[in-house]
Amino acid sequence: MNEYTIITGASSGIGYELAHQLAAKKHNLILVARSQDKLESLQSKLKQKFGIEVLYLLYDLSEPNAAQDLYNEVKAHKYLVTGLINNAGFGEYGDFVEMPLKKDEEMIAVNITALVGLTKLFGADMVKLGKGRIMNVASILSFLPFPYYSIYSATKSFVLAFTETVSAELQGSGVSLTALCPGTVETPFHTDSMRKTNAMSANKPMPAAVVAEVGVELFLNGKGKKIVGFMNWFLSNLPRVTPDILMMKIKKNLASIKK
Ligand SMILES: NC(=O)c1ccc[n+]([C@@H]2O[C@H](COP(=O)([O-])OP(=O)(O)OC[C@H]3O[C@@H](n4cnc5c(N)ncnc54)[C@H](OP(=O)(O)O)[C@@H]3O)[C@@H](O)[C@H]2O)c1
Repeated sequence: MNEYTIITGASSGIGYELAHQLAAKKHNLILVARSQDKLESLQSKLKQKFGIEVLYLLYDLSEPNAAQDLYNEVKAHKYLVTGLINNAGFGEYGDFVEMPLKKDEEMIAVNITALVGLTKLFGADMVKLGKGRIMNVASILSFLPFPYYSIYSATKSFVLAFTETVSAELQGSGVSLTALCPGTVETPFHTDSMRKTNAMSANKPMPAAVVAEVGVELFLNGKGKKIVGFMNWFLSNLPRVTPDILMMKIKKNLASIKK
């Protein structure tokens, strides 16, 4: 029976590159996102180039019950899922009090609720099977909550905390749970305002393919968390040796629009 790895957010950016690199290693894939045209074209490219099984499922992961519905669809088709990469996510930039509540809620739904649901449902099956790999895409903001990215940073702190604790529970089950923590990556994730912040000029965005390479290695070795790149590792560890007041000033400056 064919085994599949699900990649959420495979239509663009890091997810798109992860799909290419896992396909090159002959992993059969189930691609998930909302953009049918992009998933269709990725599906035919990967099938042709690598001769693997590639399916796609259209889901808006901000919708209530999205994780359960996706799981039910996969089970109804009897696809055997032994890999899951929770990569879909988005961020918003701006003053917390001015952001529409609906956007905050959608971000929490995609970045947290769907990720937790998919990890639980597919994770439980993998534990029964005695094997499987799950990787969640967090961020360096998991360690460095930034002003003007308040909800986004908080969702990514959640992802890291959740991944570390459940990963400890899964030890010895044959199922690995890891967290990939990129810094800024060159993808359509960034809005025009995000691109104008000091952080974007201070820390050059990494190519998505490079981040995906680190991600594939982490996913396959199944060990712990990985901060991508030395500068991002340094920044993530800065709060350990910097007083809170100074750290928040630094972060506020980095998150501000360049004058
Ligand atoms: N870029 C960065 O600087 C950076 C840094 C650290 C962490 N990350 C994280 O990396 C992950 C991938 O981001 P990226 O940079 O590759 O961004 P991206 O190019 O914008 O890709 C985001 C992916 O998520 C999918 N997605 C977004 N909302 C969705 C929804 N409601 N339902 C289903 N799918 C949805 C998008 O697909 P559709 O639009 O087709 O639905 C797309 O495939 C995210 O979790 C992000 O937080 C990014």
